[in-house]
Amino acid sequence: MVRATVVVDRDQAIGEVDRRLFGSFVEHLGRCVYGGIFEPESPLSDPNGFREDVAALIRELGVTVVRYPGGNFVSGYRWEDGVGPRDSRPSRLNLAWHTTDSNSFGLHEFVDWCAKVGVEPMFAVNLGTRGIEEALDMLEYSNHPGGTTLSDRRIANGAPDPFGVRMWCLGNEPDGPWQLGRKTAVEYGRLAAETARGMRQFDAKLQLVVAGHTAPWLPSSADWDRIVLDETVEFADYVAVHIYVQEVERDIQTFLASGVELDREIERAIAEADAAAARRGVDRTLAVSVDEWGVWRDVDLKAPKPQDWPVERRMGESTYTAGDAVVTGALIVSLLNHADRVTCACQSMLVNAGAPIRAEADGVWRSSVFHPFRLAARHARGTALRATIEAPEIETRKYGRVPALDVAATLDEAQAELVLFLVNRNASETAHAAVRLGSWPEARLIEALVIGGGDPWETSTRERPEGVVPRELPEAAIVGDSLELVLPAASWSVVRLATKPEPR
Ligand code: AHR
Repeated sequence: MVRATVVVDRDQAIGEVDRRLFGSFVEHLGRCVYGGIFEPESPLSDPNGFREDVAALIRELGVTVVRYPGGNFVSGYRWEDGVGPRDSRPSRLNLAWHTTDSNSFGLHEFVDWCAKVGVEPMFAVNLGTRGIEEALDMLEYSNHPGGTTLSDRRIANGAPDPFGVRMWCLGNEPDGPWQLGRKTAVEYGRLAAETARGMRQFDAKLQLVVAGHTAPWLPSSADWDRIVLDETVEFADYVAVHIYVQEVERDIQTFLASGVELDREIERAIAEADAAAARRGVDRTLAVSVDEWGVWRDVDLKAPKPQDWPVERRMGESTYTAGDAVVTGALIVSLLNHADRVTCACQSMLVNAGAPIRAEADGVWRSSVFHPFRLAARHARGTALRATIEAPEIETRKYGRVPALDVAATLDEAQAELVLFLVNRNASETAHAAVRLGSWPEARLIEALVIGGGDPWETSTRERPEGVVPRELPEAAIVGDSLELVLPAASWSVVRLATKPEPR
């Protein structure tokens, strides 16, 4: 057993935990929309075609904001196709994912569905095949109260009130060779800046997200952020980070340390944004929107594309493992530890494709990655506190030597609750962690739960949804001013403490 010490101090605030940190993402990909959240013919759907059982699990998951309609899909999307009477909407090829899209789910359906499941809608505009004018049209259609052709069209289409969408992404992964209308940094930077300027002329308070480099391994990533942010830092509010991690060649040790990769990407985005602001002499501190993050399992990016452009195509319907759940929790730890700058994050995707929620025609179930998200969305509230960790290091093939433990802490003053999220990234050794709680002499243990800690390849399936679920962490106790925890190898735990004595 290895030993670690963690100090959590009331005075070490990182920042407020923005509720948007628990966002997700819905794209016209695989069975996320059709056969996922929307299935008009299903007896399990409401009169609008929204699956009730899926909606119930989304509420349970605790999602706060949802990005739509893509992803790669948005780079060829014509938003007008998805509004107006359904029987006159055009059917189009979805070039991003090789399917045929009926457009029976569009902007109105999305906004109505958001209201149903209780989440904030977030839009992305097409800066791949389209440009400023179409983005401004979509904005006016969505957010202008009425009295113009576009806004009156929305009203005629059944939405008297503006959609009121506050957060808008300026394109999606424009540097990716897989992207329709791929751009160089110079091309994208100029287009994003001018689109943002136009959108601000409509509403100065919009929150606009500019695309940072998509992946560090793309050759263009060397100077993408510098060039793009020099153009856009004046007009944007957020810089986007996208990250997908996966276990490669059964290297579970590297995989468990994936939080390191997210830490690096977030810190790089912050550094690039601050450097651009300094160079341009602009008094702006951009936030970071990690608006696509997730774990991939057995995703074959080179799989042959269907030549018949099916209406329904199963994609990314991974059977997630205990290790995937631990890494999902670890990525959330990274997000919380950057709460001062990361104020929006969207787990990707919400239903069926790489998703916490799975749906078939006759029912739904929770995949393993559902559980850490639900626990964090529910309990990570208030202020994120900096935890100081002294832990032995582990060797990883991809990230070198990293501390075996990572920890995030949140303090909800209103509820008098301190919550610790701890990941033991060591694939083979249990860790004994002593958490010093000097700031809270009256702390009491409310609950300690653990995910993982056994076979990291154990799965949750439809037949055995209880395969990977949170269970009680057996060894958790307060001894003096220290919380003593025994954290199994390859596990993620959440420990809730009351900071005040029980009322008599
Ligand atoms: O989530 C699937 C795809 O991954 C998204 O469409 C794209 O933005 C990313 O590359």
